[in-house]
Amino acid sequence: MDCLVCHESTGTYKKFPTGAGHPASEPTVFPDENKTYYPPDWNKVAQSVQRPGRENCGTCHFYGGGGDGVKHGDLDSSMTHPDKHLDVHMGKDGQNFSCTRCHSTSLHHIAGRVYQTPAVKEVKSLIEDDLTSKITCVSCHSKTPHRQNAKANDHTDKVACQSCHIPTFARINPTKMSWDWSTAGRKKDGKPFVDKDEFGKPAYATKKGDMRWEKNVVPSYFWYNGSIEHLTLNDVIDPLKEVWISRPAGSIDDPNALIYPFKVHWGKIPYDKVNKKLVVPHLFPNSKTDTTAYWKVFDWNAAIGYGQEYLGLAYSGEYDFVESLYVFPTTHMVAPKENVVNCTECHIREKGRLAALGQIYLPGRDRSLLFDRIGWLAVLAALAGVCLHGLGRIFVKKNREE
Ligand code: HEC
Ligand code: HEC
Ligand code: HEC
Ligand code: HEC
Ligand code: HEC
Ligand code: HEC
Repeated sequence: MDCLVCHESTGTYKKFPTGAGHPASEPTVFPDENKTYYPPDWNKVAQSVQRPGRENCGTCHFYGGGGDGVKHGDLDSSMTHPDKHLDVHMGKDGQNFSCTRCHSTSLHHIAGRVYQTPAVKEVKSLIEDDLTSKITCVSCHSKTPHRQNAKANDHTDKVACQSCHIPTFARINPTKMSWDWSTAGRKKDGKPFVDKDEFGKPAYATKKGDMRWEKNVVPSYFWYNGSIEHLTLNDVIDPLKEVWISRPAGSIDDPNALIYPFKVHWGKIPYDKVNKKLVVPHLFPNSKTDTTAYWKVFDWNAAIGYGQEYLGLAYSGEYDFVESLYVFPTTHMVAPKENVVNCTECHIREKGRLAALGQIYLPGRDRSLLFDRIGWLAVLAALAGVCLHGLGRIFVKKNREE
């Protein structure tokens, strides 16, 4: 990567959107935003070099997916200057950590990579060569960080710290929770348009379809052993079901799995109706004369045909839309201890946070006839014990009096 993205500190080092990583070399208008990009003031930028701050890492990680908070619910621009209510670690009035305080870096190996399995197994990936160490909450805290005898300590063998300590994500800025591409292409007076929602975020765009943004989102919980399963373009899908593009691996029987919080992004995306595979449409026009880019001609068939051919993949010529799900781990935005998830939000009969994780016995949520019987047997046994003991004492007392 370009050194200055991580090391400059003026905040003026901007790249031209379609410049393949290059800043503009002369003032250039980007028609989509109707905005002019200027070349950087190289002297100022070069002289501002420092160790990376939150804004440097955020340049990329807050804007994944083409905008602020589009992908991650726990990494967005509100984390550049957070207070401790948003993040106890990065809060300026709290520990004021930079990203690299946890993602410690030596020789440019940034610690804290999540995924253990590469998305593509046939290709030798960077990940196999990755010498980078993992980080977890327990890298700094202990497995039993709570006061002695606190019930929370009994949970850490099954429940990840994040599950209790991140009650909701996207607490300041909204995050994109759903994206329906099937409604894209509608025009107003023959022209593409954008409708904004109450947050000022696009709710409908001719280019992208319908989108829903949410704040203060309660995460979804899954067993998770540190790996994420990914669908590839070669996998056959069942279009009658929601297609999991990515999904946490792990189960209750997996000794390495913990219950861990995720953002689940819902989508409706094009697929090949005959081959039953996901497809890659060509969106962004690569020239003024491009006749297939969806964002120019709004023709899915042309866009998918070009995209698939470009990648050397088959396309039957028939498409439809399928519902899809995608997961993002939730690990930042740790709230102050006062705002921890309440016991009863998990241990409750209906609609608890863990309602979807059927296969685990939760006192308060579940009733098990066997457990209940054992419980009552114990109560009866105790009662019998007390009565016998009492009788015994009366008897002994009488004997003594005599
Ligand atoms: C992905 C972000 C990233 C990129 C890109 C990057 N660096 Fe770094 N660099 C870091 C981090 C993180 C550190 C460790 C900072 C710390 O310890 O606080 C670091 C440390 C350094 C250090 C050591 C500074 C010190 O105080 O020990 C030098 C020198 C350096 N980088 C130069 C470069 C050069 C030259 C390039 C381009 C070839 C580059 N970096 C690209 C993130 C980056
Ligand atoms: C309090 C410590 C801490 C701080 C501060 C922190 N992180 Fe993380 N980060 C973690 C942990 C823990 C993980 C999860 C690692 C795992 O599960 O293997 C993680 C995971 C990640 C991931 C991969 C997981 C994902 O959500 O896709 C990215 C990217 C990331 N952090 C970026 C950042 C950036 C950017 C910043 C600064 C704005 C930052 N982190 C600050 C602790 C921290
Ligand atoms: C120029 C864009 C860019 C910048 C700046 C950047 N990153 Fe990244 N980062 C990426 C990309 C792209 C990936 C995915 C690379 C891969 O998986 O091989 C990534 C991956 C990561 C991961 C692993 C994520 C995972 O899911 O396993 C962590 C952690 C991370 N970055 C932290 C940081 C930190 C800390 C900084 C600031 C010092 C930083 N990044 C700066 C683009 C960037
Ligand atoms: C079942 C929910 C739960 C889990 C899981 C959990 N915690 Fe907590 N944590 C709490 C509660 C409740 C409090 C506040 C009351 C207390 O201090 O016992 C708390 C408080 C804390 C505190 C502040 C302690 C203090 O005395 O100031 C830290 C630090 C902490 N947790 C870290 C962690 C870490 C690290 C993990 C994972 C190893 C974790 N927690 C797992 C519920 C949980
Ligand atoms: C780089 C070290 C580091 C990492 C990694 C880290 N913490 Fe902390 N954490 C601290 C420090 C330092 C404090 C402040 C002192 C304290 O309360 O222990 C703190 C405080 C806390 C508190 C107490 C907040 C309060 O209200 O007082 C909680 C809860 C907590 N951390 C949870 C977590 C969780 C969950 C993770 C993983 C996502 C994590 N920490 C990762 C260093 C770390
Ligand atoms: C994030 C959801 C969650 C929260 C919040 C939570 N629990 Fe649990 N609890 C679980 C799960 C999952 C299990 C079963 C896992 C296990 O056996 O460790 C469990 C098990 C238990 C058990 C039975 C097993 C044992 O270790 O004794 C008790 C009692 C319990 N919790 C009490 C509490 C109390 C008290 C609180 C509040 C301080 C609390 N829980 C908060 C999820 C939660």
